Amino acid sequence: MTRPIGIFDSGYGGLTVFRSIAEQLPQYDYLYLGDNSRAPYGNRSFDTVHEYTLECVEWFFRMGCPLVILACNTASAKALRTIQQKDLPQIAPKNRVLGVIRPTAEVIGNYTKTRHVGILGTRGTILSNSYCIEIGHFYPDIAVHQQMCPMWVPLVENGEHTSDGADYFVKKYLDELMGGAPDIDTLLLACTHYPLLTDKIRKYLPEHIQIVAQGDIVANSLAEYLTRHPEIDGRLTRNGTTRYFTTDDAAEFDMYATMFRGEAVRSEHTTL
Ligand code: DGL
Repeated sequence: MTRPIGIFDSGYGGLTVFRSIAEQLPQYDYLYLGDNSRAPYGNRSFDTVHEYTLECVEWFFRMGCPLVILACNTASAKALRTIQQKDLPQIAPKNRVLGVIRPTAEVIGNYTKTRHVGILGTRGTILSNSYCIEIGHFYPDIAVHQQMCPMWVPLVENGEHTSDGADYFVKKYLDELMGGAPDIDTLLLACTHYPLLTDKIRKYLPEHIQIVAQGDIVANSLAEYLTRHPEIDGRLTRNGTTRYFTTDDAAEFDMYATMFRGEAVRSEHTTL
């Protein structure tokens, strides 16, 4: 029986993170789950995001994963803490669930010189204030400027992110953010869908501003975590396999997933 690392997202976005993880840690077995039938999560309440995410985490545990990565900022912001503190001790005390916000907050201070950082995320991620809180722990000297971009995930999920129509919403949110915080020199894509909009984001930003995506940051952090936690690492199997699952239509998932993953994806439908 394989004991894979579980990679979760509400839909396709987590594949941009998985791409980096698979590149850096190809030896492990992986299960990817996109909860496409209920995506996007971005505008949903805390309770709903927690309920949906927990159901998916339990699915991973039933599939034999000792470790699950929430490769979704919305789920990390709105469900992770409750799952770690309340649910895990009851349902699977030896298993672990990790998110993407803390590892990103830990290193963001290495990128900025002006100490003004912009955070672009879904409504849920921004309203949770998770990035302000986490970055504040590690770097109290950094000013965090947040901007919600509720139209970006639908643009990406509908394959419209390279269309001319997308420019309007990319420019709109960047103008709103930069207008109020001209000292920003580092812009974090705090949603796993946003790397697909990088070309357009670049087009509307002054050149000196660096755009930071989370894939490599999360992959580095996972590699370090596994070194520090042999009790988890030792439970994971290493055959280099990946299985993809979606709660919606598998053929449609494969069509879009390839774009996020950067290589062909063949998924299976699952129910939770
Ligand atoms: N990929 C998710 C994130 O990183 C957002 C997608 C959604 O709204 O479900 O926040």
